[in-house]
Amino acid sequence: MEKNILITGGAGFIGSHVVRLFVNKYPNYRVTNLDALTYAGNLENLRDIEDAANYSFVKGDITDEAFINELFLERQFDSVIHLAAESHVDRSIMDPLAFVKTNVLGTAILLNAARRTWKDYSGKLFYHVSTDEVYGSLGQEGFFTEETPYDPRSPYSASKASSDHFVKAWHHTYNMPVVISNCSNNYGSHHFPEKLIPLMINNIIHGKPLPVYGKGENVRDWLWVEDHARAIDVIFHKGRHGETYNIGGFNEWKNIDLVQLLCSIMDRKLQREPGASARLITYVTDRAGHDLRYAIDATKLNKELGWKPSLQFEEGLERTVDWYLANKEWVNRITSGAYQEYYQNQYAER
Ligand code: NAD
Ligand code: DAU
Repeated sequence: MEKNILITGGAGFIGSHVVRLFVNKYPNYRVTNLDALTYAGNLENLRDIEDAANYSFVKGDITDEAFINELFLERQFDSVIHLAAESHVDRSIMDPLAFVKTNVLGTAILLNAARRTWKDYSGKLFYHVSTDEVYGSLGQEGFFTEETPYDPRSPYSASKASSDHFVKAWHHTYNMPVVISNCSNNYGSHHFPEKLIPLMINNIIHGKPLPVYGKGENVRDWLWVEDHARAIDVIFHKGRHGETYNIGGFNEWKNIDLVQLLCSIMDRKLQREPGASARLITYVTDRAGHDLRYAIDATKLNKELGWKPSLQFEEGLERTVDWYLANKEWVNRITSGAYQEYYQNQYAER
């Protein structure tokens, strides 16, 4: 069976892993990667597959309605896997409207373009990639399930929750075949070093302070990014339309414990004395409205579609550290210019 898929945000962290998986695994599918190449998007992430016969890249903005309508008319996609977004919570606190524009308006524009182009819904699917942050914050106990009421608390999570609701609205109002997945924190290669794990690795390499927000007691559930891409593959092909699937790593870590673990791995890899990296830990002002704990119950995905995480966290962290040590130039290139300015300002404020 052939498919003609639009993947949005394919030059970003998770998107590049999803594009690579689909291009390599399904040579008979046509994959179009649409990405605006913001600070977070980088075609270097896809060098290994850029010449594949079943792959093409289009530079464009999902908030440009005329352009998106034209692209749908021209390419006649039968499926969309939508990952393009503003993705960083701290940035959403500083510039919330950019998140409303891309995550809310951009998603609605894509939904509308799909609805206008798809004369019938046979063989069609709009797959929306979302986050566990839409469910709000947990206390010490419990897990997010697909039935947990939405309670987003940051501008980022509010924008993602809103986009989820638009996807559900297109399903209920126009009968569009949709599926949504809500995933926990990803980690792995090609992760932009503003996020916790790559930021800490990069700062340890350069002997810079390791900014831990508040007391470092917030908890996140970490998942190997390639396991997320595998889950998206399974849900895209076998997920029930109109359904939501939670994706998680069954792998909760307090931030400070995770940073300590990374420090000990880095000491060993860099042949520094034990404790050298941990001395860089600096407690800084907490993130405004910082959600205490996220934890996903991914039982539905496991029971219905047979997916489970493949990699132990310690093994995944070792691989991630090795990737960053072997790709210092990638980090240097993408952290110059506009990003550097943003980061310096943000850190100066703390
Ligand atoms: P990312 O920031 O690394 O990549 C986002 C990509 O979207 C970039 O390539 C960027 O250029 C592109 N983009 C941004 N605005 C655009 C626009 N207006 N038009 C076209 N392209 C645009 O993000 P990520 O971490 O890879 O996240 C991808 C998706 O997965 C997002 O929807 C995010 O909400 C979701 N998600 C992320 C995580 C995580 O841990 N990173 C977890 C769960 C869900
Ligand atoms: O849960 C899924 C979400 O995970 C995704 O939807 C988001 O796109 C993704 O960015 C991520 O959000 P978080 O806010 O959890 O990730 P971040 O890496 O920014 O932060 C992880 C935790 O580490 C969080 O509790 C804040 C803390 N932190 C983060 C940074 C950048 C620090 O203590 N210091 C830091 O410098």
